[in-house]
Amino acid sequence: MEMTHKKDLDWSNIGFGYRQTDWRYVANYRNGAWDNGVMTTDPSVTLNECAGIFQYCQEVFEGLKAYETKDGHIVTFRPDQNAERMMNSATGLEMPPFPKERFLEALDQVVKLNAAWVPPYGSGATLYVRPYMFASSPVIGVKPAEEYQFRILCTPVGPYFKGGVKPLTICVSDFDRAAPHGTGHIKAGLNYAMSLHAYVDAHSRGYDENMFLDAATRTCVEETGGANFFFVTEAGTIVIPKSGSILPSITRRSMKVVAQEYLNIPVEERPVKLAELEQFVECGLCGTAAVISPVGKVVDHGREICFKNCQNAMGPVTEKLYRTLTGMQLGEIEAPEGWIRRIV
Ligand code: PLP
Ligand code: COI
Repeated sequence: MEMTHKKDLDWSNIGFGYRQTDWRYVANYRNGAWDNGVMTTDPSVTLNECAGIFQYCQEVFEGLKAYETKDGHIVTFRPDQNAERMMNSATGLEMPPFPKERFLEALDQVVKLNAAWVPPYGSGATLYVRPYMFASSPVIGVKPAEEYQFRILCTPVGPYFKGGVKPLTICVSDFDRAAPHGTGHIKAGLNYAMSLHAYVDAHSRGYDENMFLDAATRTCVEETGGANFFFVTEAGTIVIPKSGSILPSITRRSMKVVAQEYLNIPVEERPVKLAELEQFVECGLCGTAAVISPVGKVVDHGREICFKNCQNAMGPVTEKLYRTLTGMQLGEIEAPEGWIRRIV
């Protein structure tokens, strides 16, 4: 196999940030159809001052990663799921879905042309890929735009949370992330814009993240600003919160299969009450950026809930999930049929 000469980066210490890479994909939707799309080296976007994205925030996005595997291939993990979720997000904001097959082909091209930016196997870093789509034509009355742009950029990243595997401390937020029957289940930038104040507020008080509750009753656990939760009972069952207003995480769906079919661990998907958190022995976050990260403590206005098996490091169940899932992504463990898309 042809060897790609990697960029000269300190791969194990790159952090989670944007770093401009060489190539990105751009396609435009005009007159009711997507054009053929191109790869470009130009990272700038030029838009009309009144473009729909600037006025009414018509934007959806995805997040996934490319990995260098143990045997030197470059792969993505379940990108068909990202393509489908993005089509669903687009429909939710009255945007024209970008077709799944074209999404996958464009993604392959972006990763392939940026192969020198894919962090080496074993470095702990990965190539984060961000497909996104926004209203590009002018609107001033409140309505969907006529034209849209779809792009895919990528950037090498290290761990999302500073401090590596140190368990996180999370506070119960006084703000709500998503309304019932609103947009919480779709990946739209607007959901993240409105979480920023809560995020800055939590950080200023020393917390790593927020636990958002269901907006209707404020009694059930929803998610953080960028990841889903999971819990482990004393008896060893994994419990994942069910709600119509959280993002259906692909990591979480994969973790459920890994737990049930590979690790023989039972999984319950159901509403989780804030009042029952004391009964769990492990808590974690799951997501593309978060991967699987342990949570040591949740603080609800002075009431401290400590997860006894996740105090100084990942709990044993969290660790098994982490090892199996990342093992599949890195080509160390055979993944279920169709989960790994080999690009190089
Ligand atoms: N929840 C939110 C709000 C997110 O932004 C993400 C990240 O994509 C997730 C959950 C996890 O989803 P996934 O596992 O598909 O990355
Ligand atoms: C992801 O995990 O891909 C996300 O979009 C979440 C964000 C916090 C980076």
